[in-house]
Amino acid sequence: MFSTLQRLAAVALVGVDVANAAFSVASVADIKKTAADIAFDMMQYYKGNLTGQTPGILPGPPPAGDYYWWEAGAMWGTLIDYWRFTGDESYNEVTTQALLWQVGPGQDYMPPNVTASLGNDDQGFWGMTAMTAAENNFPDPPPDQPQWLGLAQAVFNTQAHPDRHDETCNGGLRWQIPPLNNGYNYKNSIANGCFFNLGARLARYTGNKTYADWAEKTWDWMRGVGLMDDDYNIHDGAHVEKNCTDVNGAQFSYNFGVFTLGAAHMYNYTDGSPVWKDRLDKLVNATLVRFFPEKIAYEPACEDGMTCTTDMLSFKGYVHRWLSTTTQIAPHTAPIILPVLKVSAEAAVQTCTGEASGRMCGFNWRKKKYDGSHGVGQQMNALGAVSALLINQQGTKAPVTNTTGGTSKGNPNAGSQSDSFGAHNRPISTADRAGAGIVTFLLSAGALGTFAWMGLGK
Ligand SMILES: *[C@@H]1O[C@H](CO)[C@@H](O)[C@H](O)[C@H]1NC(C)=O
Ligand SMILES: *[C@@H]1O[C@H](CO)[C@@H](O)[C@H](O)[C@H]1NC(C)=O
Ligand SMILES: *[C@@H]1O[C@H](CO)[C@@H](O)[C@H](O)[C@H]1NC(C)=O
Ligand SMILES: *[C@@H]1O[C@H](CO)[C@@H](O)[C@H](O)[C@H]1NC(C)=O
Ligand SMILES: *[C@@H]1O[C@H](CO)[C@@H](O)[C@H](O)[C@H]1NC(C)=O
Ligand SMILES: *[C@@H]1O[C@H](CO)[C@@H](O)[C@H](O)[C@H]1NC(C)=O
Ligand SMILES: *[C@@H]1O[C@H](CO)[C@@H](O)[C@H](O)[C@H]1NC(C)=O
Repeated sequence: MFSTLQRLAAVALVGVDVANAAFSVASVADIKKTAADIAFDMMQYYKGNLTGQTPGILPGPPPAGDYYWWEAGAMWGTLIDYWRFTGDESYNEVTTQALLWQVGPGQDYMPPNVTASLGNDDQGFWGMTAMTAAENNFPDPPPDQPQWLGLAQAVFNTQAHPDRHDETCNGGLRWQIPPLNNGYNYKNSIANGCFFNLGARLARYTGNKTYADWAEKTWDWMRGVGLMDDDYNIHDGAHVEKNCTDVNGAQFSYNFGVFTLGAAHMYNYTDGSPVWKDRLDKLVNATLVRFFPEKIAYEPACEDGMTCTTDMLSFKGYVHRWLSTTTQIAPHTAPIILPVLKVSAEAAVQTCTGEASGRMCGFNWRKKKYDGSHGVGQQMNALGAVSALLINQQGTKAPVTNTTGGTSKGNPNAGSQSDSFGAHNRPISTADRAGAGIVTFLLSAGALGTFAWMGLGK
């Protein structure tokens, strides 16, 4: 939030500069120009390539800055899709530098700097970005560096490792990775959704059934424990000391997006099996019904009262990108999904008239005008929505596999040098840590912290 004074100043500036009309997405050329401007404005928040700064991360984590580590991982994925859709290579170098800088000593996206708030979902977002690079033949790193596919496999393998799995709640991944972190006692949909998504995509890319088996298992676990219910509600998470019977019913759009894209890959991997078609179609419907009323992206859990955290302010963009890629992997969904994404993107750019530049994007797209909020999430949302409009343009290929032109080198054993944080030496009981106190948790809330906070508060 910023002060009324700043807002008035911004309004005044907009007032004098009549050139500040909303962006156009009326033609391919307009879409490319609009996406380029939004991307440029987004990158004004990135300081990692300046002298003395750390490559790959956004200002943070709180209280040092607004952004947790995971959101930068998501931003590089948005820029890879931006390049894929528009062909603009402007950010390829900075993206490659970022993705390689943050791999950590195990080359598995667990850099020691972020241990204190390292969740399976945080690691998963960087892994999904590496996977996006592999699937779209984003320029391969030099041979002496880790490779995109190998990095995605490393993230997957560390998450499939027995250290990350236990019998509480009948299985499933915990939110946090290090056992001493607050939130280690929470099993949630996004952590398992990232793992499911990555497994499904690795299955399609490599043809290796082990990945598909894990994706099936994760899906079954989500359904069994009730985090995904018969009506395709996807709830936020639940606690191990309650054997996950205390389901937190908050629903967020990115959980739907991450499972939809994964289900599309399982559908494709199984050559269009009726089981995965049914699941995919129902997920697509659930996503559009809940998160695109009026065909415009909406975050019901927090948008009306504008109580969204910085994390939540970035979900719309992922959903746009993942739904649009779904239409390539499962083409029968295109006529259902694409018209909605178009209306939504048109609304999104109507909000891009804010701040001194006169073109920063807001969050509440249904208002169709700037709502006074701005940040990386808002830019990333609009960038995802606008660039993904080019999904059907000539030259935008469907994600490749290792038999249809994929060049990225894999390593099925990647991630075996990983730090287990002593998980295999620790007793499973977390009742002691769960009692460590809500106050501590609030003070040190990790990435995506509000989710677990909402759970703890119940
Ligand atoms: C940092 O990256 C931004 C965005 O790509 C670019 O505009 C800027 O010139 C870069 N700065 C340096 C010092 O490389
Ligand atoms: C970890 O933090 C230090 C100190 O800020 C920084 O120099 C280093 O580059 C960081 N490492 C990673 C992988 O971000
Ligand atoms: C694709 O990946 C699978 C699993 O790693 C491997 O068995 C297969 O040989 C690869 N195919 C090609 C063409 O590289
Ligand atoms: C925990 O819940 C699972 C279902 O998710 C159930 O199969 C299991 O029996 C439960 N365990 C205990 C100890 O209640
Ligand atoms: C699988 O994806 C490809 C695009 O890579 C698409 O051409 C094909 O139709 C998809 N298969 C099914 C069953 O939809
Ligand atoms: C779509 O979802 C809504 C809300 O969950 C449901 O009422 C409707 O039956 C679903 N439609 C289809 C075709 O599945
Ligand atoms: C398939 O993936 C599993 C899990 O990573 C791995 O252990 C196995 O070696 C892979 N098989 C092939 C043929 O690459």
